[in-house]
Amino acid sequence: MVCSPQTEQNSTLFHNCWFLVKRPHEGRFLLYIPPSTPDNCINLAYSFLTMIKPETIQRIIDTARIEEVIGDFVSLKKRGSNYVGLCPFHNEKTPSFSVSPAKGIYKCFGCGKAGNSVNFIIEHEHYSYPEALRYIAKKYNIEVEEEEVTPEMQQEIDERESMFVVNGFVSKYFQKNLKETEEGKSVALSYLKERDYRESTIEKFELGYAIDQWHNYTDYALENGFKKEILTKVGLSIDKDSRLIDRFRGRVIFPIHNLTGKVIGFGGRILSSEKSTAKYINSPESDIYNKSSVLYGIYFARIEIVKQNNCYLVEGYTDVISMHQAGIENVVASSGTSLTEEQIRLIKRFTPNITILFDGDTAGIKASFRGIDLILEQGMNVKIVLFPDGEDPDSFVRKHRSSEIEAFITKQAKDFIVFKTNLLLDETVGDPAKRADLIKEIVQTISHIPDGINRSVYIKECSNIMDVAEQALMNELNKRLRQRFKKQAENQDVQVADVETKQLLDEQMKVDPLDISENEKQLIRLLLLYSDEIITVYDEEQNQEIQIRVDDFILTELQNEQISFLKDTYNEIVNEFGEAREKDTGLTESYFTNHSKNKIASETINLLTSPHQLSDNWKKNRIFVKQEEDQLSFLVLTTWLSLKAKYADKHLKEILDSMKTADPDEIDMLIHQYNTLKNISTKIHSELTRVISY
Ligand code: CTP
Ligand code: MN
Repeated sequence: MVCSPQTEQNSTLFHNCWFLVKRPHEGRFLLYIPPSTPDNCINLAYSFLTMIKPETIQRIIDTARIEEVIGDFVSLKKRGSNYVGLCPFHNEKTPSFSVSPAKGIYKCFGCGKAGNSVNFIIEHEHYSYPEALRYIAKKYNIEVEEEEVTPEMQQEIDERESMFVVNGFVSKYFQKNLKETEEGKSVALSYLKERDYRESTIEKFELGYAIDQWHNYTDYALENGFKKEILTKVGLSIDKDSRLIDRFRGRVIFPIHNLTGKVIGFGGRILSSEKSTAKYINSPESDIYNKSSVLYGIYFARIEIVKQNNCYLVEGYTDVISMHQAGIENVVASSGTSLTEEQIRLIKRFTPNITILFDGDTAGIKASFRGIDLILEQGMNVKIVLFPDGEDPDSFVRKHRSSEIEAFITKQAKDFIVFKTNLLLDETVGDPAKRADLIKEIVQTISHIPDGINRSVYIKECSNIMDVAEQALMNELNKRLRQRFKKQAENQDVQVADVETKQLLDEQMKVDPLDISENEKQLIRLLLLYSDEIITVYDEEQNQEIQIRVDDFILTELQNEQISFLKDTYNEIVNEFGEAREKDTGLTESYFTNHSKNKIASETINLLTSPHQLSDNWKKNRIFVKQEEDQLSFLVLTTWLSLKAKYADKHLKEILDSMKTADPDEIDMLIHQYNTLKNISTKIHSELTRVISY
């Protein structure tokens, strides 16, 4: 018996029956629910059939109070505006698990776990997303409204599904042709053997053969129940006078896989070297095959790309396969076209490093320079390997041993900008006008690098190669950057005043953008010196400027952002300030310099004295920094914002690092985290820009 989605809520109704379960991209399957199945399993099955209405989800999220949801599992104590308790996700004796009702989030400063109410239930109870929503809904007596997957949605899901299925089906048929038919064996398999492809390679890449007939696989697929529309939609068949014909005839077939290994399209190569027909015929674009966002070989390369932290980019199907056969697996092909931004982002999910393997034809290389600027713009590092004239990776690999290949690539790999400079420089000998153009062109390329430090390294390097003064290049670069900033500001309505502001910003962020200790130190120093002074800051919630004590400002911000310092002593100082503020008193520097804990005392003293001058009169010292006080609001704000920006950047880098070792199926989650945090970081940076240029 087949159950369609029911509107009845009582799940016991579903015992002892069959479900027709459909999941996007995973085909449909029948699920039998035995009489003894626990209710929560049925709920799980049920959640595939219907969807909780978005309005209900919003209600659940809005109603849930995180301290109550978590309070059912963890004993929480109020501290300030937050709650703390022992972390349920790791073993600890002192509480580092903090819950913020205002933000609706929790974070453990011990193990780093963080999230909202729903995440907590998912993590703690090992529930699925809909289960966690239902749990919270039940707790707050919220009626869960569900909607059936609409017929249109279902049709769309069905259609995409069928497209994958027909591709997979015909791909299997092509493979069988290659290995089991007389025609396949005598013309196609022998051709592949001639190209030195091993059986295991043919197997791995699922290579096949399309019989040289007009109605071969199309008829076979139709006989097996596939619909005409699906066959034409994936482009396997072409509608000719309302009779379908095969697109691929008498060709070796290279299936193209998406990231999860499903066949989304095909390339078919002729067997001869005659020039009368196109060497390759490819599937057209379809709902499941978007050429600009796919790279040939990515499914087979993705894990090795992460492991090697580098991706080789080649031109063709055969280059990818030959390299694999030689043991180099972190390789993908652009399939003869220039790289798109989407393809670059696809690689960037796995590594920031690309090595482009060019065959020895300079015209082709120059044509691709513009595309490479695009890669640089994404903050990726690009290297170039040039193969000897007339060789492509495929032919080169077949002539050499694996060890020789790797040695060759390592030795030849040149940084792109250096490579480009050298290549173009050769052409400018004796032509000053051309030389001037070249300099502009190279600077233009360098200006695409997002990182300031990297840019200056390249300026230095190119000034050497081209024998031009570094300052001249720098001036040209700044001109370019200014133009770009102006354009961006106009486009996005961002108030990036000018390059000077940017430089001031860079300075604030210091040379090592991930070194946080200096910023922490500055903030604590301001707290110790000026805790009871009043500053003026802009309050977003009240949408107006407010006056606030320095200690109150710093304490609230730290709490709101749930940030704790890397240096423990600083945390202790902040905690003491917090406790004092709760009693509505304040603390003086002398309290800390005379602190019973030696560590705190000495740290404070260090902070408050300049290296050259030791004074025991803090008031006097404060007069010394009178100039500071005049700009106290500005100082506190920029110090806080740059610290916050650095925390975000540090966290971003941590996410990137963990991507390197993450499972492929974790990567999407990490990318999501990364993007969310990136948005936050961008916001902080532009806030900092605003404050500085104000
Ligand atoms: N290509 C294509 N259509 C063509 C020629 C090329 O789609 N008519 C694409 C294919 O993806 C091909 C890539 O461009 O893999 C590189 O082209 P080329 O170097 O000519 O082909 P190879 O794959 O190297 O094939 P072979 O080694 O058999 O020459
Ligand atoms: Mn080639």
